[in-house]
Amino acid sequence: MHPEDHWNRVYATKGFDSVSWYAPHLDKSLKLIERLCPDKAAAIVDIGGGQSTLVDDLLHAQYRDISVLDISRTAIEFTKRRLGERSEGLSWHVGDISRYDFGAKQFDLWHDRAVFHFLTDVANRMAYVGAVRRSVKPGGHVVIATFGPDGPFQCSGLDVVRYDDKKLQQAVGDGFVLLGSETTYHQTPMGKEQQFLYSWFKVDA
Ligand SMILES: C[S@@+](CC[C@H](N)C(=O)[O-])C[C@H]1O[C@@H](n2cnc3c(N)ncnc32)[C@H](O)[C@@H]1O
Repeated sequence: MHPEDHWNRVYATKGFDSVSWYAPHLDKSLKLIERLCPDKAAAIVDIGGGQSTLVDDLLHAQYRDISVLDISRTAIEFTKRRLGERSEGLSWHVGDISRYDFGAKQFDLWHDRAVFHFLTDVANRMAYVGAVRRSVKPGGHVVIATFGPDGPFQCSGLDVVRYDDKKLQQAVGDGFVLLGSETTYHQTPMGKEQQFLYSWFKVDA
């Protein structure tokens, strides 16, 4: 099954708050974005934003240049409906991040919670890194949250790669300066605990 079919089926058949990655708010993500990018005019992109409420919280925090990309049109349409007319000022993208091109648009901050770890193939990881390099301004920031070294082996029935900070630094390669990383624990709606690793980088100027 193509990845977009997989994700569209997941979002068409599961309630938004019953998927394992659901959290009412992505508090850690929001705090990091506000710390790394206090300027509310900063261009922020949420990669694989799905149906998460990060975008609602960014709007509430007064950010004005927000983009969301997801491979699933079903997820994007759901999130746009939830936001109603507030969705109109945002930039929406449907596509696979390992093939996507944002054109001339460049971001101050790239956020990804639980997408990079699905790239089990080195060619797709390299394509993802290429997209970051094209699309993030020199000196901009990249926040990536993956499953940590003791996290699950799969998510949504798909294999994932688990990372510690050294392994993630190796995967993204030179040109990304690791500013910090932190292990966090996510409580799934089914009551299970999942270890995540949040890492944040500055892209070489
Ligand atoms: C585990 S969910 C996380 C959703 C959201 N980031 C969150 O934290 O709630 C992974 C998301 O990434 C999207 N996704 C998976 N592979 C992708 C890819 N190659 N390109 C873009 N989006 C992808 C899925 O549709 C899904 O919305």
